[in-house]
Amino acid sequence: MRNSPIGIFDSGIGGLTIVNAIKSILPNENFIYFGDTKHLPYGEKSKESIQNFSKQIIDFLIKQKCKIIIIACNSASSVTYEKPSLLKNTKIEILNVIDPILLEIKKININCSIGVIGTKATIQSGIYDKKIKALCVNAKVHTLATPLLAPMIEEGFINEKISDTIIQKYLSNPKLKNIDHLILACTHYPLIYKEIKKYYEGNVTVVDSAYIIARYVQKKLAISNLLKNTAYKENRFYVSNYTKSFKKSAKFFFQEDINLEEVCLNV
Ligand code: DGL
Repeated sequence: MRNSPIGIFDSGIGGLTIVNAIKSILPNENFIYFGDTKHLPYGEKSKESIQNFSKQIIDFLIKQKCKIIIIACNSASSVTYEKPSLLKNTKIEILNVIDPILLEIKKININCSIGVIGTKATIQSGIYDKKIKALCVNAKVHTLATPLLAPMIEEGFINEKISDTIIQKYLSNPKLKNIDHLILACTHYPLIYKEIKKYYEGNVTVVDSAYIIARYVQKKLAISNLLKNTAYKENRFYVSNYTKSFKKSAKFFFQEDINLEEVCLNV
C-alpha cells in the first residue's frame, strides 16, 4: 500500500500547485491527478453539483487504488465539509485543503486581521469565516470572492499587465483594507503568489497554502506508515474533457512531460 500513488483532484490545473509542493518534499511519491475540466470553474457551480462531481472523482481514485486522496480544491473542500457522508464507505483517508490552513492560522497572533480570498463557492460557504473565528476569537476575518482569478490562471494569464490589473482591482477592495495576513483559499492562487506579494510590498503576510498542505500530507503519510520507499516513478494524469491547452499548462506547471487521458464520469 505504501508504494501506491497519491490520488489528487481539482477542477483544473490548480491542484498541481499542491502536487508540485508535495513532490518537492517527497520526491519519491507517485500521483494520479484528476482535473475536472468539463466542470471548470467549480467556484461558479452549486453546492450540490460540486458535491456530486467530487463524489464521482473520489470513487474513480479509490478504484485506481490510491493510498490517500487529496481534495486539492478549496471549493470542493468547503462543500464536502458540509457533507461528510461523501467521504464515508472507504478506509482510505481523504484530506481536504482547509484543515491544514486552519492549523497554520492557529499559530498566528490572535489579534490579527485576516483576509481570505477564494472562489464564490468557497467564500459563500462561510467555512473560513466560521472556522477562523472559532479558532481565534479575537481575530478579524475579511473574506472576498475573487471569481476571475482561477479562470484567468487557467488561461495562462500570469505575470502580465492584464493579470496585474485584475489582481490590483480585487486586492484594493475596501473589504481587505488593513489586513495583516492574506490566505490564498484557492489552489490556483499559488501560481500568482509573486504578483500578490508584490502588490502588498511586504506589508501583508501572504499565506502560501501549497507548502502548508504538502507538509500536512507528509505528516499524515508518515503517521500511517504510508511514505513510499522505492524510487519507481509513474504519474498518471486524467481530465474529464481533453484539451491541448490543459496538457500544455499541466506540462508547464508540473515541469515534466505528462501523459494525459480523458475519462468520462457519470455526471
Ligand atoms: N482551485 C479551485 C479552488 O481551490 C477551484 C477553482 C474553480 O474551479 O473555480 O477552489
